[in-house]
Amino acid sequence: MSLPSKVLAEIAERFGTPFYVYDFGAVESRVAALRETVGPRFEIAYAVKANPSLGLLTVLARTGIGADVASRGELRTARKAGFPAARLLATGPSKSDADLEALIGAGVGQIHAEGPEELERMEAIAARLGRSVRVGLRLNPEWGIEERTAIIGGPGAKKFGFDLPSARRALRDRARFPHLSIGGFQVFNASNVLDARALVENARRVLELAATLSRRYDVPLRVVDFGGGLGVPYQDGEKPLDLKVLGRGLARLASNVARVARLEKTRLVFEPGRFLVAGAGEYVVRVVGTKASRGRLYALVDGGVHHLLRPALIGTPHRVRAVVPRPGPSRKCTVAGPLCTSVDLLHPSTRMPVPLAGDLLSVENAGAYGYTESMPLFLSHEWPAEVGVREGRIALLRRPPAVRDLLARQFRPF
Ligand SMILES: Cc1ncc(COP(=O)(O)O)c(C=O)c1O
Repeated sequence: MSLPSKVLAEIAERFGTPFYVYDFGAVESRVAALRETVGPRFEIAYAVKANPSLGLLTVLARTGIGADVASRGELRTARKAGFPAARLLATGPSKSDADLEALIGAGVGQIHAEGPEELERMEAIAARLGRSVRVGLRLNPEWGIEERTAIIGGPGAKKFGFDLPSARRALRDRARFPHLSIGGFQVFNASNVLDARALVENARRVLELAATLSRRYDVPLRVVDFGGGLGVPYQDGEKPLDLKVLGRGLARLASNVARVARLEKTRLVFEPGRFLVAGAGEYVVRVVGTKASRGRLYALVDGGVHHLLRPALIGTPHRVRAVVPRPGPSRKCTVAGPLCTSVDLLHPSTRMPVPLAGDLLSVENAGAYGYTESMPLFLSHEWPAEVGVREGRIALLRRPPAVRDLLARQFRPF
C-alpha cells in the first residue's frame, strides 16, 4: 500500500525528512480482512512489539481486537491507547519482577509463562499482592515452522517457552503455585511465514498438543494461543499469504474444535503483528545527492538503518520507490544512508530512474519492526517524526526528541 505522492510531499514539508507515516485506513482494512479470514471462532490480539505507536494502537484498539504485550512499557501504552486489561495477553522472555508486578497488578487476561523459574517468581509476586493470576504456559515443542531468515528461531533450543518435559513437570506440580490458575498454552516459534498451509498445520498441532496436555493433567483450556507469524512479502517475487487457503484451513479446524467438549469455551487466539501493520507504513527519506563508485550508482539519502534497522538486521531489503519517479530508463542503484558503516544500506541494489538531490524515496513495508526496532542514537542524527494519515488528513503521532533534547539529558562528570 503506498500513499499518494501529494500527501507524502506535504508531510515532508510540514515535518521534515526522514519520517515514518502510517495509513490508518490500510490498518483497518487489514484487521477486517484477517477477521473475515479467521472467522468467528478465532480471536486476534495485535502484537504490540510490531509497532507500539500510541496513535496506531489507538486505531487498533477501536477495532475491538485484543493485544499482546511483552513488557510493562507496552502494557502502559496499550492501556493508554484504550485496550481494556481483560483483552490483553502478555508474552515475552526474561520478564523482570517489575514487569510481572505491573502485569499482575493490571489484571491482564492471561500471562504466558516462559519457563519454570518465571512461574516461581510469578507465584511469589501474586502471593505478595494477594492476587490470583490467569497463566498460560508458552511451549517450545520439538516441531514447528522453520524460518527462512532467523527472527524467532524456528524449532530447537531457545530462550522462549517451556520444553515439553519441563512443562509436564510444572503441570504435575502445579499445587505448588496456589496463586496461579494455569489454564492454557501458547506456541510461537516462526515469524514472517508466507505459507498458509504451514500456519494451519501448525495451529492443528498446537491444538492437539494443548488438548492432550489438558486431558493428561486435568488443566482447563481457557486460552490456546498460536502466536503471530503471518508473513508479508518484502521483496519482488514473494507471494502474499493466501488468505483463502488460511481461511478454509481454519474453518476446518474450527469445525473439528466444535466436536471437542474440552475446547468448547476455549479462546483461540492469533497474535499477529507484522501482518496487520507492516504494509500500512512507509519510511520516507530525501535524496542528498548521487555518486558513482567503480561503476555502481549510489543514491545518498538523509535516513538509514539507524531509523530502519530491519533490512540490515534480518538481511532482507525492503522495496524502495521514488515518490515521484523521474522519467527515463531505470538503473541499478544502491540506496545508502549517512552512517559510517557499510551496513547502512536501505537497499543494496534496486532499480529506479536516477534520482536527483531533493527527491523523496519511500521504503515500503516499514509499519512493523521499524521505528522502535532501530538504533536512532547511532551517529547522533535527528530522529524521524511519526505521522498518521486517514483519507488525506495528516496527524502528528510522535514529535521526536531533537538532538538538543537528548543532550540536555546527559551530564558532564564531576
Ligand atoms: C510472543 C509473540 N507474539 C506475536 C509476535 C508477532 O509476530 P509477527 O509480527 O510475526 O506476527 C511476536 C513477535 O516476535 C512474539 O514474540
